[in-house]
Amino acid sequence: MTDSYAVIGSPIAHSKSPWIHAEFARQTGQDMRYEAILAPVDAFAATVAAFRERGGKGMNVTVPFKLEACEISSRLTERAGAAQAVNTFVFSSDEILGDNTDGAGLVRDIRTNLGFSLTGKRMLLMGAGGAARGVMLPLLEHKPSILTIINRTKQKAHALQQQFSRYENIVSGDYADIRGEKFDLVINATSASLQGNLPPLPPGIFAAESLAYDMMYGDGCIPFLQFAKQQGASSLADGIGMLVEQAAESFFLWRGVRPKTDQVIRGLRNL
Ligand code: ATR
Repeated sequence: MTDSYAVIGSPIAHSKSPWIHAEFARQTGQDMRYEAILAPVDAFAATVAAFRERGGKGMNVTVPFKLEACEISSRLTERAGAAQAVNTFVFSSDEILGDNTDGAGLVRDIRTNLGFSLTGKRMLLMGAGGAARGVMLPLLEHKPSILTIINRTKQKAHALQQQFSRYENIVSGDYADIRGEKFDLVINATSASLQGNLPPLPPGIFAAESLAYDMMYGDGCIPFLQFAKQQGASSLADGIGMLVEQAAESFFLWRGVRPKTDQVIRGLRNL
């Protein structure tokens, strides 16, 4: 019987995951199907249970269910626990394993696709919501010299720093606090790009040879990436590579095969 997977969210019609996983399956010769499932916002757990009943082997979880997915998992990986959010379920007869592949996807895109090494770098992470929390552990594992978290609401940045207090190379604050500092990597993990807004970054923050990375993709990231270019960032990236890499990491968990991502990233840009 063909193994069955799905992405679950609300809304879901815009999701690129079915296209990405179909490409991965074709490329690696895996016998599987992958569908998009719209869950009523008050019936996430029941919709997941119904998919499992039908023999589903795994799921990707997207907005707004990543926190609830964490709650219904019977076991969490370390990175999902740190993120307090789940974007991948692996189902077996007796458990729901909850994982989070977002941070690994980001790190892989930056290191492997963009050829940018993270170790020893000065990193700036903008935002302190779920998106920022989800990538903290994988970034820290690559030993930056410093990871600065800034947020409009400073207390949330402090709280995120506290959550990772066993790492001594984290500082937190707001946008005004980084005036006069320079960073090698600046990651936009705010939702500002969803509204086409630019976070209130001070000028002069990009070091020579720096990378500006927006975790979103589409027209919304233009304000941040344009600002970064004007300010002298030497490389710019949107979140398409991260989207494909987090999918590849899920695919690997399910199928034990790592798909090639470069063609899929190019294909997605040309859709
Ligand atoms: P997500 O799960 O996508 O991280 P979230 O938890 O709602 O969503 O968090 C959104 C993040 O984007 C927050 O850090 C928010 O800052 P505040 O905590 O101060 O609200 C940040 N954000 C949203 N719009 C922004 C803007 N225009 N400028 C700067 N930060 C913004």
